[in-house]
Amino acid sequence: MPLPRPTYPAPTAAVPALVYQPPAGDAPWYPPVMAGADTLGRIHNTDGFVSAALAHMERLTPDAYTTYLGNFIREGRARFGDHWVYADIVSVLLCLSRVLKPRTYLEIGVRRGRSACAVAAEAPYCAMFLFDLWQQGYAGIDNPGPDFVRGELAKVGHRAPATFIDGDSHITVPDFFRKNPTAAFDLITVDGDHSERGAAQDMCDVLPRLAVGGAIVFDDIAHPAHPELNGVWKDIVVNDDRFSAWSFRDAGYGVGFAIRKY
Ligand SMILES: C[S@@+](CC[C@H](N)C(=O)[O-])C[C@H]1O[C@@H](n2cnc3c(N)ncnc32)[C@H](O)[C@@H]1O
Repeated sequence: MPLPRPTYPAPTAAVPALVYQPPAGDAPWYPPVMAGADTLGRIHNTDGFVSAALAHMERLTPDAYTTYLGNFIREGRARFGDHWVYADIVSVLLCLSRVLKPRTYLEIGVRRGRSACAVAAEAPYCAMFLFDLWQQGYAGIDNPGPDFVRGELAKVGHRAPATFIDGDSHITVPDFFRKNPTAAFDLITVDGDHSERGAAQDMCDVLPRLAVGGAIVFDDIAHPAHPELNGVWKDIVVNDDRFSAWSFRDAGYGVGFAIRKY
């Protein structure tokens, strides 16, 4: 059976930090978004976001995975210095949040709040909508739920409301958009259900609600246990002209982001 595809109604929102507003009376010749994946990828690779990701993780409650990741990043920097090109969901979200200054963030797959806290740290007044079913023992690590994540958000200085929507994203996300038919988001992360069809369905449910100039982040596009995720990313985002996409698959589990152009 073919994978689901998103359907896009006309967008209703745009991210001010990325769009060009011509002077009153001038025709809008270009699509409005001024910077895409090339610009954002260059900022990511040159402005210290891998070091920032390391410092970010050191502010949060450690677990076996983040301890491993910290050692991996320190070793990469020690061996390859400034030539080391690396990215993960945290370095990418720190970069996108600093540049886009998102006002609204939707995340599917929160776990212990590491990625949501990256957005909160750079955009403390960003309103968050966080979807998870809190699968016990996810990846062999305690997955304590919203109260724990609220504590982590407080540690990084988040000051806006954080709304937790608990349950299976394939039910809760469509239900949320039915109840909030005009909701649009400046930044969205999909990192929940890692099955091919489940991840594709999550993408289809959220992408139509991404603002113009907003970014979608999709994790694990080089994860050996989830080889189908790169195909989902390419089919639904990279091959769609409405997105300018950046993919990192050299090391780690890989991560992609894309800016919506129109
Ligand atoms: C890879 S972890 C998220 C990691 C997090 N984004 C981070 O960077 O630390 C995946 C999370 O998705 C949740 N999840 C898995 N399937 C889901 C579903 N169908 N609906 C909602 N959450 C789901 C799990 O409970 C788990 O907490």
